[in-house]
Amino acid sequence: MFAERYRNRLLSQKQAGLYRLPPEVTGKEGKHLFFAGRKLLNFASNDYLGLSTSDELRRLVSENFRRYGASSSSSRLVSGNYAVINRAERAYADFFGYEEALFFPSGYQANLGVISALFEKGDKIIFDKHIHASSVKGMVLSGAEFQGFNHNSLPHLKRRLEKGKPAYTAVLTESLFSMDGDLLDVRGFVSLKREYGFFGIIDEAHAFGALGDRGRGLGRGIADVAVGTFGKTFGLFGAFVLLPGALKEYLFNFASPLIYSTTLPEAHAASALDLLELIDRCDDGRKKLREVSRLMREGLRREAFQVAGEAHVIALTIGEENRAAEISKGLLAEGIFVLPARYPTVPMGKAMLRISMMATHTDDDVNDFINGVKKVYGKYEEVC
Ligand SMILES: Cc1ncc(COP(=O)(O)O)c(C=O)c1O
Repeated sequence: MFAERYRNRLLSQKQAGLYRLPPEVTGKEGKHLFFAGRKLLNFASNDYLGLSTSDELRRLVSENFRRYGASSSSSRLVSGNYAVINRAERAYADFFGYEEALFFPSGYQANLGVISALFEKGDKIIFDKHIHASSVKGMVLSGAEFQGFNHNSLPHLKRRLEKGKPAYTAVLTESLFSMDGDLLDVRGFVSLKREYGFFGIIDEAHAFGALGDRGRGLGRGIADVAVGTFGKTFGLFGAFVLLPGALKEYLFNFASPLIYSTTLPEAHAASALDLLELIDRCDDGRKKLREVSRLMREGLRREAFQVAGEAHVIALTIGEENRAAEISKGLLAEGIFVLPARYPTVPMGKAMLRISMMATHTDDDVNDFINGVKKVYGKYEEVC
């Protein structure tokens, strides 16, 4: 019975152009990816500053694992609350300008754990319709009432707020949106927060390390809680939540993804400490990332492509799901790795190529990408 249901579901995924199987990658080296026996230019990585394969981070992380061992071997609440983790969390709170920080095994667990623990029946969560799936799952698990506002539309958020009870209303949004690549209107958000006094959670997964003064993101001094991941600009894995001290205490007691999961190893925390120093001195990398991202956006727009995005995440709108998949496949032949984002990651009929830029991309890489897209896009239109 079950087998038949799964087979039918997979078949309809295929017919709708929504079928997914992770492509097997045999390795990566800076901005390159090894796939199907070829070396490809990677435009699908969240390693925005290129730290993950840098010699310096490789050395630091491997020294930390040699020194501390491979695993924490316990949840944080049993025997996994190591001093180095507390030291790292203190440093993150200080660097990003929040009272406290709390590490999670992943950003998905962080959003799910924080949102499901902090809110409950009787509360209201108002969320940007394009927030990450992990935040959506957290809302659903919380039991709170929730209501979406149109993506990045603060007038729509305001209309939603007019109908709420401010004391029990939370707003969830992102500073740099993971798929659309657009930015939160921070000033508008602050003024609504002042007017309505809601509790604000800003997911800065794609901004921390890459945007803002010293890479400290866009929501400092505004968000009540901010979420960052180590798996993107920081070139590592795991996540950190920045929050008031009282909420950290609360989450130790009520956030089950934290309580019932093996905590990240000491070597991770030691590497997180090393990373803060690296991130702090990456101004040149951030500048390079800004410049190469601007070149890509402007170049694509000059060729009349429909492009969204204001920073290093760029969305090239394709529309129909199968067409986006074909174009991505065609680009592989041109030596370019970029994947289509399709429903349910983005709305149905709004499939796109999600282009992520790295500080290590060059002007030539941008030109190669644009020429490749022009060639494949044109070819595919002829076939249709
Ligand atoms: C906005 C956003 N939040 C959270 C996450 C989850 O982070 P992680 O990959 O560390 O689980 C992602 C990752 O895709 C993301 O894009």
